[in-house]
Amino acid sequence: SSTSTSAPKKREGFSSRKVFIFAAIGSAVGLGNIWRFPYVAYDNGGGAFMIPYLVALLTAGLPFLFFDYVIGHRARASSPLAFRRLNRKTEFIGWWHMGINFIIAVYYAAILAWAARYVIYSFTHEWGDDPATFLMTDFLQVSDPAAGVTFDFVPGILIPIMIIWVLLAVVMSLGVQKGVGLANIFFIPLLVVMFIGLVAYSLTLNGAWTGLDALFTPDWSALTRPEVWVAAYGQIFFSLSIGFGIMITYASYLKKKTDLTGTGAVVGFANSGFELLAGIGVFAALGFMATAAGIGVSEVATSGIGLAFIAFPTIISQAPGGTLIGVLFFSSLLFAGFTSIISIVEVIVAGIEDKFNLGRVRSTLLVVLPIAIISTLLMATTSGLFVLDILDNFVNQFGILAAGLVSIFVVAYLVRALPTLRDHINARSSWKMGKLWMILLAGVTPLILGYSLVNTFITLMN
Ligand code: PFF
Repeated sequence: SSTSTSAPKKREGFSSRKVFIFAAIGSAVGLGNIWRFPYVAYDNGGGAFMIPYLVALLTAGLPFLFFDYVIGHRARASSPLAFRRLNRKTEFIGWWHMGINFIIAVYYAAILAWAARYVIYSFTHEWGDDPATFLMTDFLQVSDPAAGVTFDFVPGILIPIMIIWVLLAVVMSLGVQKGVGLANIFFIPLLVVMFIGLVAYSLTLNGAWTGLDALFTPDWSALTRPEVWVAAYGQIFFSLSIGFGIMITYASYLKKKTDLTGTGAVVGFANSGFELLAGIGVFAALGFMATAAGIGVSEVATSGIGLAFIAFPTIISQAPGGTLIGVLFFSSLLFAGFTSIISIVEVIVAGIEDKFNLGRVRSTLLVVLPIAIISTLLMATTSGLFVLDILDNFVNQFGILAAGLVSIFVVAYLVRALPTLRDHINARSSWKMGKLWMILLAGVTPLILGYSLVNTFITLMN
């Protein structure tokens, strides 16, 4: 690793393994855990989904997490420079990672702004009798481009999204330990306490057990369907933030003598534990909603925007202690998302810092200012939801999968660096990686990613 481009300057890092673990969990635990996992599990076999999910975690999630860790830790550099230090021809992968994170940051911030706004709406119930109409008419006016795409500002979102960006600029400019590290040390315990409170309260609601029944009743036939397995791997990749530079960047801030695999296992299982908890809380609440309406859980089960900004407002309006549920739910969404977007922006800030040999504050300004402007102009408008849909689909169904596939392929087959990387891991880790790790990485993971990409294209064609 002697292809450094910049003059050596003292590199900042996390002060301890503990701070890294909080930051890595903060990155992994995001919207994906709270509003994506519950429905994916429900829709892909319920209780039976736990099998493909666990298999995906063990055969691709953890192996790929270790791969990200070792690339960042060995080079002690941001994604482009880390790949460059592996082989100068592979630097482009890091820039691809930065592009993906740029796109995610633009729309992820808007979801956080909506969540912040809905904390307030939890008190006022401004969404009225039909939260769906509220979302479309008062909050985001255009979801159907045929009706004409308009970019009028939605005043209620303008201020929250600007506050989010200012806070992010402050955290990023404070640096890796004092900004990123401390923000996670502060928000993650708060998130866990609030979320456990939310889940405990949801379980007391009338109909909660009907919801849990719907989530966990196993449909064993799901195990024979390939889509179910693809969904499990997709959820693991998304949820662990692997394959697009985030974990490479964070691992580059770990101390030289760190148990990489032991640390990764803690992060991986903590993330899945939180997902499971979210499944319980969300389906308990949906069970209440279905019971109150006298309909089946299948009629109210949903994910994403529909879950957070339509189903939950309904639950908040109807449930005893609804305001408490609203505050806990939307604050959880906000804190989980904020610690994730920190890691997303960190990939870009670190990349620019390394490339142009800049200080932290300058790099932050250079990165955050343009993203904040684009994000605000695009997302705080009547077409925010429409833009989000396009960006989110592009990133998740193509960008992340392709980046993961290309990085593994290049490193394993073109650069042939897996044995070197394995040596680096094993020189400092308690859980040693053997041949199996290389087979999973170079064989199983590319097959799954490739299959998922082909699926994306087939769906696009139809
Ligand atoms: N892992 C985080 C989540 O589950 O929300 C962060 C994240 C992953 C954000 C993938 C966006 C994304 F496309």
